[in-house]
Amino acid sequence: MQIYLDSANIQHIQQAASWGIIDGVTTNPSLLAKEDPKVDVKQRILEIHKMVGGHLSVEVISTNTDGMLREAEEIRSWFPEATIKIPMLPAGLAAVKELSKKNIPTNVTLIFSPIQALAANNAGATYVSLFLGRLDDIGMNSASILEEVANIWYVHNFESKIIAASIRNPLHIIQSAKVGAHIATVPFDVLKKSLMHPLTDQGIDIFLKDYDRMQTEIQKIITE
Ligand code: E4P
Repeated sequence: MQIYLDSANIQHIQQAASWGIIDGVTTNPSLLAKEDPKVDVKQRILEIHKMVGGHLSVEVISTNTDGMLREAEEIRSWFPEATIKIPMLPAGLAAVKELSKKNIPTNVTLIFSPIQALAANNAGATYVSLFLGRLDDIGMNSASILEEVANIWYVHNFESKIIAASIRNPLHIIQSAKVGAHIATVPFDVLKKSLMHPLTDQGIDIFLKDYDRMQTEIQKIITE
């Protein structure tokens, strides 16, 4: 399962990219506004693209098909590899259909149910983003909904890729990997936390102390 960073923060993207474990970045208007409400979106997106180079989802803000298609064209003029992130609306599905005819990659966002995921796939989406954290927030079981989506994908051998989105904790990442999501898009703090383990820190501490002890013994032998 690939990992994308769900962020518009340059420092975070730079740091996560330097760890060699991310294959792309997903952004949305809220993530961009969180960094700086006055941000120049085009400039920020191009900065991220230059830094990571892999998948980069850029979201449209129109809610009608023509507006979405116009925005898609604009975004693709910034860099031709852009994946266009389209909201899960009937008008969005129509835009996805049009873009898929031109082989333009799309990521259908704000998916909360298997039927929405199926519809996005049938419209020709390249990626379908199921929001786990927001489902859990309203008392739904995101793990079982993701499992249903994954089962449908494997029964039908769909080509589109499932992105587990709205990830809030390391368990969401593992649940996504276990059921066969193709990608998890993860916020920086969750990704960093996921890599930590107290036994790893303790182990490093012991190794370093033992190494120092060894050096002290060698020094004693040399000076005797
Ligand atoms: C990713 O594509 C989504 O925009 C993102 O994961 C949403 O996450 P949130 O529910 O934490 O805002």
